[in-house]
Formats: sequence, structure tokens, C-alpha cells
Amino acid sequence: MENKKFYITTPIYYPSDNFHIGHCYTTIIADSIARFKRLSGYDTFFLTGTDEHGQKIEKKAKECGVTPKEYVDKIVDNAKDLWASLNISYDKFIRTTDKEHEEVVQKIFKKLYDQGDIYKGEYKGLYCTPCESFWTETQLDENGNCPDCHREVHEVKEEAYFFKLSKYQAWLEEFLDSHPDFIEPTSRKNEMINNFIKPGLSDLCVSRTSFKWGVPVSFDEKHVVYVWIDALSNYISALGYLTDDDTLFKKYWPADLQIVGKDIIRFHGIYWPIFLMALDLPIPKTIVVHNWITMKDGKMSKSKGNVIYPEQLIKRYGLDATKYFLLREMPIATDGLFTPENFVQRYNFDLCNDLSNLLNRTVSMINKYYEGNVPEYNGTQNDVDDEFEKAGENVISEFEEKMNEYEISNALQTIWSYIARTNKYIDETAPWSLAKVVEGESEDEKEVKQEKLKSAMYHLVASLKEIAILIRPFLNETSNEILRQLGI
Ligand code: ME8
Ligand code: MG
Repeated sequence: MENKKFYITTPIYYPSDNFHIGHCYTTIIADSIARFKRLSGYDTFFLTGTDEHGQKIEKKAKECGVTPKEYVDKIVDNAKDLWASLNISYDKFIRTTDKEHEEVVQKIFKKLYDQGDIYKGEYKGLYCTPCESFWTETQLDENGNCPDCHREVHEVKEEAYFFKLSKYQAWLEEFLDSHPDFIEPTSRKNEMINNFIKPGLSDLCVSRTSFKWGVPVSFDEKHVVYVWIDALSNYISALGYLTDDDTLFKKYWPADLQIVGKDIIRFHGIYWPIFLMALDLPIPKTIVVHNWITMKDGKMSKSKGNVIYPEQLIKRYGLDATKYFLLREMPIATDGLFTPENFVQRYNFDLCNDLSNLLNRTVSMINKYYEGNVPEYNGTQNDVDDEFEKAGENVISEFEEKMNEYEISNALQTIWSYIARTNKYIDETAPWSLAKVVEGESEDEKEVKQEKLKSAMYHLVASLKEIAILIRPFLNETSNEILRQLGI
């Protein structure tokens, strides 16, 4: 039988600046889930990439005195180095400047135009350049600025193409209603419905003439395609949709999981399903919307300049410590505050005290009592062992349950509760007293203690092996190190 497939994506990030730990966060979540699915036997395809067109990048390149392509090439090189250093296991890195992608975008635009979903009109609106977003008067904040970043918007008037979003409003409402798993968490979906859908969807302006850095509309070349049509299409163009070879598309579409930050839910929860519906394509199974990593002064963002780059953290604490912190301390459903104090605490308590100590104690006991060889264990059980084994079985099913709901922080918590339980097992069995020769002890008593000691060592190694496998999707290096030290 063929393996079940799993297609997972991250947003494609703007290469307007080097990526910070916010981008790493989404990508590490996706990577962990992709690794978990692969280990669980799924035929997995993991896509990431960069969203390279648009006015913001055009401007940035000009300021630096280079072409937009030269500008993004440099950042993309850095991004690929970064993902390599984070050991990100993507199957494809798509760039919206890839020729194959640009052609697909043109075909999609033409198809939507030919079938009447896109029409020509005139656009007058308020545009926020840093956010690449158009706003209506009523959407602006109390100072008349962009409701997202609170910076100035400016009026733009131009001949433009429009997409008939309004035509799909009723369909979208019904779709969201009948597909409760489409957007997780549900609170995000409700927020989106109330803020954007209930007030009514107006037709969306999907072309620009005010700048050049984009995919030209094939039948009207003074227009470039709106960045969000260009960007969202990456998820299907990457698989060869509308190309000569659409094997991957046939195999992997629809996406099983798309991970996005809450800043871009409007695009993924409204425009994206509508475009797909218009193209007569299946809609992704689930979009997980995560919150932001915040600093003491609010959201961490390139445009705000309050960013932390991962390189220093990795250099000082190691890759797995950095990953562990992001996955464990930054829950998906609420904003996570990044502070150096929290980081160091997680590192010291969870990784050093709990996990490293467990490994070190176990290995040193086996060295001391059995010269480094895990003893033969004859299966004689006792209550302490029975109870410990039961705890282990529950852990695995609990872990799988959390992973299947994409609750990574909770899944890690489950593993760490097992680590704590295993440390407790050492205290319960007190191997040091089992190993001690007590004067006047009978041969039988000695024998019982020997069996208990063997059993304790055996159970500790078995548990550490399980832990190494459970953490494998998240902390690959640590997993390898545990298995190496155990000689597995
Ligand atoms: O929006 N906390 O690109 P972008 C958590 N090109 N996640 C964060 C974050 C933070 N402080 N900052 C960024 C775009 N992210 C578009 C996407 S997709 C078809 C096009 C992550 O470079 C988070 O995943 O602004 C967020 O959604 C994404 O980076 C935005 O990246
Ligand atoms: Mg952004």
C-alpha cells in the first residue's frame, strides 16, 4: 500500500531584510511537524521560500543602489544558510522570482480573467507600503493610519484589475461553517469572521501600475499582479500546478497543514480559499494560525527594528536549546514574550537539570555497576517497575494526541513530564543502595537486590531511548547524542 501523504507549508517570507527568530519560529514548527510525520511513515513534502516582489522591496533595493533581484539574491543566500544552520528539512525552497512560478501566476491570472472572476476597473484607495496592504477609510486606526502597523497610508488612484471577492462571500461563510478544522485555533477564525467577513467583502484590487517589480499581467503588460495573488500561488506553483509536469501537484495537493502568523490570517483565511474555489481546486485541510513572539515593546518585526537574530543564541547555547525555547515557551495560541531571562531559565532547568542529568546519572551508574554494559534483565517485575512502565505507555499516546492537534508546546510538556517521571524512578529505585553490599545479608537477599538493580538500569535505558525518539523531530542533535551515549 502506498504511504499516506502530508503536505506542509510555511509562509514565504519577504526577503526585505535578514530573517529573525519570528521567521525561525514558524519554520521550526513546520520542520518539527514535517519530521514527526516522516517518522510516522507519511510521505511528506515540506515547502518554504521567499516572497520577493512588491513595492517595498523595489524601494529598499533602490536605497541600496542595487537592482531588486540583486538585493533579494543576497538575502535569499543568507536565508538558505540560516535554514541549513537550523537543520531545516524542507523539500523545496520556492522563490516568487523563479521563472516557473511567474509563469504559473500569469496563467492563474489569465484563467480567472477569462472566466470573469477578474475584471478591469479603477482603483482609488489608501495604501500602506510597509504592509503592502490597501485599506478603506473605515479600517484605519483612530489617527487615520494603517490599522496593522500604525504608520501613514497614502492615497493611490490607478486603472486596475479587480477580483470578484463579493461573489464568493456566501460560499466562504458556508465553507467556514461546515469545516471547523480549517482554521485553528477557532478563536482566530471567529475573529476573522467578525472583523473582515461580516462587514462584507468588497472586490479586491489585484493589479498595480504604480511600480514595476512584480509579475506582469500577460495580456496587459503595464500591470503587475498584486503581490498576494503572486504570493499565495506559491503553494500550488511549487508543486507544478498548470505546468507540463504536475505529478507533485496531483500527489500532494491539497495541503494538509499551512502554518501562518496571525498577521496574515486575512490572506490565508479569506482570499486563499476563495482563489482556490475560483480555480476549482480543493481547499487545504488545516491552517494553523500562531501568535507573535513579542518583545517588551510589542511585536518583534523587521520594520520595527526590535528583532533578535538566531545566530547569537545558537552560538552561545546551541541549536537545540534555541529550538527548544521557541517551541516550548512560545505557545501557538497566545503571544509569547521573549526575554533573555526566560531563555536561560528554560535552558538551565529543562535541558541541563532535567534531561542532561538524567542521561548523565544513567550512563555513570551503568559504567560504575556494570562496566558500561547494560545488564541482562530477566523480566522479573515489581510494583515500582510496573507503575513506571504504565506511565510510559500513557506518555506516548498523550504525545501523539497533542502532535496530531499540532500542540507542540504541550507535546513537549508531555515528554518533559516523562523525563521528570524517569528521574523520580531513579529516586524510587535508589540504585546506589541496591548496589551496596550490606553485612550479614543472605544470598537470597543479595540476589533480589541484584535483580532489582538490573531491572532499574534496563528500565532507565529503555526510557531514555524512548525519550530520544520522542524528541527526535524537535531536538535532532540531542536525540543523536543520547542514542550515541547509550550505544544504540
Ligand atoms: O507576511 N512572531 O512575509 P513576512 C512570530 N510574504 N512569527 C513571526 C514574527 C513574530 N514576531 N514575525 C514574523 C509575509 N513572523 C508574506 C507572506 S505567504 C503566501 C506570504 C512569521 O516576511 C510569521 O509566520 O512578513 C508571519 O506570518 C510571517 O513571519 C510573516 O513574514
Ligand atoms: Mg510582515
